[in-house]
Amino acid sequence: MRPIKWDRGRLSLLDQRALPEAFDYFVCESSSRVYEAIKKMVVRGAPAIGVAAAYGLVLASKEADSKPLADRKQYIIKRAEFLKSARPTAINLSWSLNLLLDLIRTLDAESLTTELEKAALRLDSQDYASNVRMGEMGSTLFEERVQVLTHCNAGSLATTGYGTALGVIRSGCKKALISKVYATETRPWFQGSRLTVTELREDDIEATLITDSAAGFLMARSKIDWVIVGADRVAINGDVANKIGTYALAILAKYHNTKFMVVAPTSTLDISAKNGRDIPIEYREAEEITKLNGEWLARPQASALNPVFDVTPASLVDALVTEKGVILEPTEEKICSLLAK
Ligand code: MRU
Repeated sequence: MRPIKWDRGRLSLLDQRALPEAFDYFVCESSSRVYEAIKKMVVRGAPAIGVAAAYGLVLASKEADSKPLADRKQYIIKRAEFLKSARPTAINLSWSLNLLLDLIRTLDAESLTTELEKAALRLDSQDYASNVRMGEMGSTLFEERVQVLTHCNAGSLATTGYGTALGVIRSGCKKALISKVYATETRPWFQGSRLTVTELREDDIEATLITDSAAGFLMARSKIDWVIVGADRVAINGDVANKIGTYALAILAKYHNTKFMVVAPTSTLDISAKNGRDIPIEYREAEEITKLNGEWLARPQASALNPVFDVTPASLVDALVTEKGVILEPTEEKICSLLAK
């Protein structure tokens, strides 16, 4: 499954809001449309958002072609800031745009679009290669056949392909090291039931769906060896922001002697965040909880709080898998030495 397609100036994003019923592409021919796609969750998942935004900046550069040469860079810089504001937690969004902004500073105005397009294509293929590498390395942590549980969707659909957490699950299944995969449905957007179960099925991997609140019961009754998740931002001390519910799973994992693995490329590490408290958490509309498919689930005036990410302290993480290597029991020192490689 390819959530992001770039074809000579046209960005097509698989509309993840319609899955699994429909496989529709949301076509973007302007940077505003890319902003809308990120904000409204047409494209989601930290690495996928980062790459989509990079293509969004290429579209901004095309928009700038109609402006006087002297104003072009300024226009693109402003569009980058606008794209960054679409969602706050996934650092890959500002990471990829900042890389392109650094590049812009070195370019002359005539070559902006060509060079930005090359850079966006590079980010796209590097993300895929990182996922395959992380999948391979992460699956070496399974010493025997294991049962795993994953949360949200950290798969092909959340990246440029293969996936982070689901990349490890794909590799582990290929090596016959995984005997059972469980997926949480992931309220309120149902990334687990709508996306994870769908994309794993395409690879002949049958994931068994549970409600988010069934995880404790499952761990108590049948042995789950590993919880495997992705990340939206990892602080320099190893605290992990990921989909709401991840923290609860990490606590449950600790209690049940289940190992907890986070799979994320180094583009998800935020060296400016000392710990999880420095990570901005996105809160979305209450109606994502109080309504389902337009129908009220709660009384219309019911008050609801919808934080969509939480922070898992590093002390609950057994392994952090990146494309540069695996860190067991991550600490600031270990993360800094990995980044220095
Ligand atoms: O709100 P979403 O669907 O964008 O949240 C996605 C997640 O939390 C994923 O687990 C995370 O981005 C890792 S994806 C490789």
